[in-house]
Amino acid sequence: MTLDNEKIGVLDSGVGGLSVLKELIKLMPDKDYLFLGDTKNMPYGTKTPEQLYSFTKKILDFFISKDVKNVVFACNTTSAVVYDKLNFEYGSKIKIFPLIQSAAKSAIEGLKDDDTICVFATRATVNSNKYFTEIAKINDKINVLNVDCTGFVEIVEKRLYNDPSSIDLIKEKLKIAKENCAKRIILGCTHYPYLVDIFKKIYDVEYFNPASALADVVKNSMKNTSKTGSIQFFATKSPKDFILSAKMFFDVEKVELVEL
Ligand code: DGL
Repeated sequence: MTLDNEKIGVLDSGVGGLSVLKELIKLMPDKDYLFLGDTKNMPYGTKTPEQLYSFTKKILDFFISKDVKNVVFACNTTSAVVYDKLNFEYGSKIKIFPLIQSAAKSAIEGLKDDDTICVFATRATVNSNKYFTEIAKINDKINVLNVDCTGFVEIVEKRLYNDPSSIDLIKEKLKIAKENCAKRIILGCTHYPYLVDIFKKIYDVEYFNPASALADVVKNSMKNTSKTGSIQFFATKSPKDFILSAKMFFDVEKVELVEL
């Protein structure tokens, strides 16, 4: 099925989702994007399913009020914890594209039975075990090792890249992947592509960013047009901070503050 409405709502707790927006724009420069970073409630990874449901529902209602018909969950945590329920409730009004479910197949491409793949993710994503569930549907002989990387999101949002305690935390998590001989590490939180250059300097292994697989899935259900697209940015708190933290992926000029 292809969709007529060219508006695409993209949501995340903050600037992480921009790593997905970048891939969407690469494949579909003709679309009108509305990106919302729920910076007021960031980080999502330490929140309960009830809280995540409430935050995400409000964002969906916001997008619907803007006549958006397609929404991309540029967030592993919401894809893992609240996608099923919200898709059930909103599926007749909008098309929702979740991250993990769209990327699991590509994530294990080229891996063999008994190989270990490591999932770096937020606590909520780890607790959901969603990557394991989705990967097991395709190949249940791949070992999936979840690593709770609580704290990484704050490094990105607060731009603490050079802080010694940030590097210590990153080293501690990479050590787990190394000790378990992981063949590949999934960047299972959309904030982590901001850190991948640091990761690579510390531990040179294959890193998988699920964003491009998700962008492929979205593209396949949209119509191609030749028009010029647009991007509008929204944040629920501190738009100025959003602009600074976004720098690695986007030169954002204007961010509208929204109260949901
Ligand atoms: N970037 C989101 C994810 O992919 C949310 C991270 C957070 O706010 O904890 O999970």
